[in-house]
Amino acid sequence: MTAVPYSRITGTGGFLPSRRITNDDFVHMLAARGIETSDAWIVERTGIRARHFADDGVNSSDLALEASRRALEAAGRSAADVDLIIVATSTPDMVFPSTATILQAKLGVHGCPAFDVQAVCSGFVYALTVADAMIRAGSARCALVVGAEVFSRLLDFNDRTTCVLFGDGAGAVVLEASDVPGILATELHADGRHAGILCVPGTVSGGQVSGLPLLRMDGQAVFKLAVGVLENAARAVLAKAGRSEADIDWLIPHQANIRIMNGTARKLKLAPERLVVTVDEHGNTSAASVPLALDAAVRSGRVQRGETVLLEGVGGGFTWGAVLLDF
Ligand code: UT7
Repeated sequence: MTAVPYSRITGTGGFLPSRRITNDDFVHMLAARGIETSDAWIVERTGIRARHFADDGVNSSDLALEASRRALEAAGRSAADVDLIIVATSTPDMVFPSTATILQAKLGVHGCPAFDVQAVCSGFVYALTVADAMIRAGSARCALVVGAEVFSRLLDFNDRTTCVLFGDGAGAVVLEASDVPGILATELHADGRHAGILCVPGTVSGGQVSGLPLLRMDGQAVFKLAVGVLENAARAVLAKAGRSEADIDWLIPHQANIRIMNGTARKLKLAPERLVVTVDEHGNTSAASVPLALDAAVRSGRVQRGETVLLEGVGGGFTWGAVLLDF
């Protein structure tokens, strides 16, 4: 295979498990534990109205499989055409093998490289950047890039400051070698000094869980860092591509909190209707949030071929990044 100038998204897909949990469902669930919350608090502070939870026994690879099938269909491709599979997830089916190899088997294909990327809520932007680099280098021509999570498995339902925020789901894109843009520029960052502000500080060791296998977050610290790095990453990726804020048709940031998303749009002087919002119905699905939002915007006819889209991720690590593309 030879190097090519660009990679380009040729199809998108998304999948949410059917069990929809509203804020009022949470009010009742938490009340049974003696914990108070309200629809008004959750909507005002986060923009979230509902999220979806996978049933027991349904894993990230199952959600990834449905999203992948839809993306392949949209691209007019079959699984046999795929020569690279990357899954971004922090909730893998197993410690190993990777969820990407499990997905590969479920797709009924074998042989092509398949691996996971672990960058928490920035995972999809990281995975897309790796796939873009491999395609432009000539190492692959048709990549399946997926974000898939069952974050409900990591939630502490005694901690109202985190358990209402997250949901399960998967989003996927087919990324292909192209002579026309395509991905225009990518920008990735991490700062491990902030690992402690958003983490699941547990692991398996000697046949036991060691440490706490539940999500812990200093929400305000994450909020403050997120607002700054999302603006910086946006400006950096635009500069790399020789584009300006005025060229952005759609901003699709990580769907964690509507206040962070609105703040980023304002700093980039984007009209509110240029911001794609799914956090209201999906909650924060970590690595799945950006491809799920992209798919929703494409399928509803908002994002059109040739339009310029800015994808942004931010989350645990601390990690952040951006991908600028012509759809
Ligand atoms: O995916 C990775 C990215 N993650 C993020 O982007 C998360 C970023 N952070 C946030 O989105 C926000 O910080 C939160 C939504 C997590 C919290 O919002 P906040 O405006 O920072 O609230 P807070 O933590 O300052 O809490 C305000 C009050 C507290 O009560 P007191 O101490 O003022 O009496 C909390 O105990 O709200 C209380 N509170 C709740 N009340 C009702 C916290 N959670 C809840 C709840 N229901 N679920």
